[in-house]
Formats: sequence, structure tokens, C-alpha cells
Amino acid sequence: MKIFALYFSPTGGTKKVLDIMISAWDCEKKYIDISDKRDILLDISFSESDICVVAVPTFSGRVPGFVISKLRKLQGNGIKAMLITTYGNRAFDDALLELKDTMESCGFICSCAVAAVTRHSVLPKYGKGRPDFADVEKLKQFSLQCKERILNTIGSASVPGNRPYRNYIPIPIKPKANKRCIGCGLCYQKCPVHAIEQNNYKVCDKSKCISCLQCVAICPKKARKINPIILKIAEIKMKNLCGGRKQNRIFY
Ligand SMILES: Cc1cc2nc3c(=O)[nH]c(=O)nc-3n(C[C@H](O)[C@H](O)[C@H](O)COP(=O)(O)O)c2cc1C
Ligand code: SF4
Ligand code: SF4
Repeated sequence: MKIFALYFSPTGGTKKVLDIMISAWDCEKKYIDISDKRDILLDISFSESDICVVAVPTFSGRVPGFVISKLRKLQGNGIKAMLITTYGNRAFDDALLELKDTMESCGFICSCAVAAVTRHSVLPKYGKGRPDFADVEKLKQFSLQCKERILNTIGSASVPGNRPYRNYIPIPIKPKANKRCIGCGLCYQKCPVHAIEQNNYKVCDKSKCISCLQCVAICPKKARKINPIILKIAEIKMKNLCGGRKQNRIFY
């Protein structure tokens, strides 16, 4: 038995949750970064006893579109899957449902699903410090529950959400490189949607950029920044929606 842990975690929160959620398993674990530009998902071949875990952030209440396109290339052949979405203390809306529909259309049995709160990657004031100690304890319990569910039942999880899924609304937050940029090209290599120009890393195609902030997180010179005025406006706008302490949820 092997766990295939597929993830997209542009700023690290989703990967943190994924690690906790697979902590109950002591078998071999193979991590696969969905944002890798090579078509590595095509090379995966599952055997009957393997388990597929998919962990993605919620963007605008949905799963980022490029992730869905990549997942559609998988062939589940009836193996079991655990689904994880993270969200920045607003809501995960239709993200789990979209993820489940996609995985089931590829032949997986989605036994269980988890939505977990993480620091909001764009507005870090919201979900600050999460997952915190209480979250980690809760997610460890979820990990055990999911293991039990995957090993001992055959049903498919019932997850919240609506069809048609809510409209994906892109956010107007597009990072730019400043003069600290040394032209190393890492942001170009790591941008999952080819938004950064190959011959000029300071040029970003705003129509392609999904505001994931992977380029900001990996820049060795911290040279990629978001316009602070736009950020402040977004922070004020989201105050009511992102306030309070939202919960981690499990579904099966
Ligand atoms: C473009 C974008 C849209 C987002 N939309 C939502 C959302 O609809 N609801 C929410 O609660 N958080 C939202 N977030 C916050 C992320 O879901 C959250 O911070 C996630 O954990 C980021 O994962 P990462 O740390 O692995 O990058 C959004 C973040 C980005 C970048
Ligand atoms: S990763 Fe940073 S330093 Fe490297 S090219 Fe991109 S912006 Fe410049
Ligand atoms: S350019 Fe946009 S899409 Fe590409 S890594 Fe940066 S934020 Fe993400």
C-alpha cells in the first residue's frame, strides 16, 4: 500500500494540513506537486491497495482551474481517495464538491473529505496562525477517522456545495517584481499557469495570473510584491466575511 499525496500549496498552508492529515498512516508516501510544469500526473499508475490524497486551496469558493484540468488526466480505477481543501477563514463554498465530482469522474471512490482553515494567503490577517495547536489536534483526529473510513467502508462521502458551482471571480491582486530582482528565473519556473514571461521575469500576464502567490513565496530576494493599497482595500472589504473563528470540518 502506498499513499499518493497530490497537492497544490502555493504558500505552504495546504501542505501543512496535508502532512497532518496523512500522519495516521505509516506506509510509503509519495508527494506530487500538482503545480509542477511537467505533466507528472500522467506518469502515476495506482495499484489496487493504493490511496490517493488530494489537497488544494479554495480560490473564490472553487478549486483553481488548472488543478482541475490536471486532475482530469488521472485514472483512479476504483481506488479510494481522501479529499482536502484549505480555506482562509471565509468559506470553502463549492470547492470540495467540485473536487469530488472531478475525482469521481476519473474513477476514484472519494471516501472522506476535510475542509481546514489556514492563514489567508492574500490577507494574512485572517486565519492568522492557523493551523494552530487546537487545529492540529482536531486534524489528527480527522486523520484517524479518515483512515478508519478508508480501510473499513466502501461508501462515497457526502460533501456540501451546489451545482452549478459558484462563478469563479478572479481577484485583482497581481504580484510585481521590484528592483531587488536578480533575474534568477525561479518565479518563471514555478508559476503554475505560465503567467510570467520567459525573457523578462518582471512582466506578468495579468489575464493568466491566478493570484496564487507561489512566485512571492519562493522568490529568494523577496522581490515580488502586491500593491499595498489594493491589499488594504481588499482587507477592509473582506472584514465581515473573514471574521470570527471558522471551523475545520470532516465529511464522510
Ligand atoms: C486567489 C485566492 C482566492 C481565495 N479565495 C478564498 C475563498 O474563497 N475562501 C477562503 O476562505 N479563502 C480563500 N483564499 C485563501 C486560501 O484558500 C487559503 O489561504 C489557502 O490555505 C492557501 O493555501 P496555501 O497556503 O497552500 O497557499 C483565497 C486565496 C487566494 C490566493
Ligand atoms: S524569483 Fe525573484 S529574484 Fe528570481 S527572477 Fe523572480 S522576482 Fe526575480
Ligand atoms: S504570477 Fe500569478 S499565477 Fe504565477 S505564481 Fe505568481 S501569483 Fe501565481
